[in-house]
Amino acid sequence: MNICVVGAGYVGLVTGAVFADLGNEVVVVDNVPDRVLMLQAGHLPIYEPGLEEMVARNVSDGRLSFTTDLPGTVRRSVIVFIAVGTPPKTNGQTDLSAVEAVAQEIGRAMDRYIVVVNKSTVPVGTGEFVREVIERHQRQPVPFDVVSNPEFLREGSAIEDTLRPDRIVIGAPTQQVAMTLLELYAPLERPMIITDVPSAEMIKYASNAFLATKISFINAVANICELAGADVTQVMKGMGLDARIGPAFLQAGLGYGGSCFPKDTDSLIHTAATLGYKFDLLRAVVDVNAGRTIHFLSVIERALAPMHTRRIAILGLAFKPNTDDMREAKSIDVITRLIDLGATVCVYDPVAIPNARKVLPTLVEYADSPYAAATGADGVALITEWNEFKFLNLERLRGVMRQPIVFDGRNLWEAERMRRLGFEYYSIGRKPLRRS
Ligand code: UGA
Repeated sequence: MNICVVGAGYVGLVTGAVFADLGNEVVVVDNVPDRVLMLQAGHLPIYEPGLEEMVARNVSDGRLSFTTDLPGTVRRSVIVFIAVGTPPKTNGQTDLSAVEAVAQEIGRAMDRYIVVVNKSTVPVGTGEFVREVIERHQRQPVPFDVVSNPEFLREGSAIEDTLRPDRIVIGAPTQQVAMTLLELYAPLERPMIITDVPSAEMIKYASNAFLATKISFINAVANICELAGADVTQVMKGMGLDARIGPAFLQAGLGYGGSCFPKDTDSLIHTAATLGYKFDLLRAVVDVNAGRTIHFLSVIERALAPMHTRRIAILGLAFKPNTDDMREAKSIDVITRLIDLGATVCVYDPVAIPNARKVLPTLVEYADSPYAAATGADGVALITEWNEFKFLNLERLRGVMRQPIVFDGRNLWEAERMRRLGFEYYSIGRKPLRRS
């Protein structure tokens, strides 16, 4: 099948690469010429495990290519995926200007029937909006259909999630249109839900909002555990074994960041309000998440004040492990506050440092290993639970620090082990271990 994917971001690149890997002819279109040149030269603008190899393989087999020519590509395609960014506006509303611009171009370009598929995360009602925009910009009346096919991939495991999704959601105006998408996805042999367009759009937001709710719920429970002397990791295990609850997304910590949960929760609150419903439950989820770094910083300040005399090492900068994405990363808030308090901050991350340099305060120092970051530090704060931190030589780490104090924002290490190794250890939703 000839497929056009508009947008060479996370979703567009991964989707394009996977469809090409399944044997389709895929052209990924982007309106940033530098990005396209970079991709044509075999360089990826993002870090995602397995993606580079998959892109290279399909480019060399001639099934995947990159261009800025949207009209030409649309005219050669059966299905056109819209996978462009939908950033938030300051009031939480989703900015649909990129989606609108692409729909206009598709409308102007199309000269025969195509299926236009919304893969970008867009508020309920956007399918109808895209249909209207395309119709208004057509040079000649050509029939087309708009389908909602939300994406559920996670950064860091995007390829695996796209090849083996829990479900594929297809929101189509008719069964016949749904069949085109069904055929495309059939080789994956995964469960498919065929529904109407608005329901598909809601499935995406409701899913992300629910996962964010699980995270904020366990983080609120972690706060109570700290006050009550309970251990949230045990509570989580006990809850997660109930099949109705499940252990996923019940990891207490610094809360959720990234380009999806923060913006999608705000967007759903905004959409609900526009439709006349006050989504207080989701508002509380957002508020609990906003409180996470404040709480973590208060623990650091209580242990280390006065901060202007302190040197702090930060381990992990990306919003989560296995990505170099710094969008809404908790590290930004923590580091900015520590610098404001006058502390010296030295940071390390396995892959996110180039992106971090663009967003962190200029006073931040960068290290090329966790041990270099911790050298002479009064405290180490773990922000992102990269696997390499789990297997650190903690004795070596303690040996290079000025005093062995660790603030574990993701409960990565076992408290008992930290105590044995002589650390003063603060974590989330568990009793602090002070040195005697
Ligand atoms: C999320 C969803 O998981 C995907 O299904 C969805 O497709 C994507 O948003 C999207 O809408 O595009 P992503 O943002 O890549 O994916 O990352 P997640 O793995 O969901 O993590 C989000 C945040 O929650 C991270 O900051 C992570 O550290 C945090 N988190 C996750 C926790 O604090 N606790 C947990 O138990 C799980």
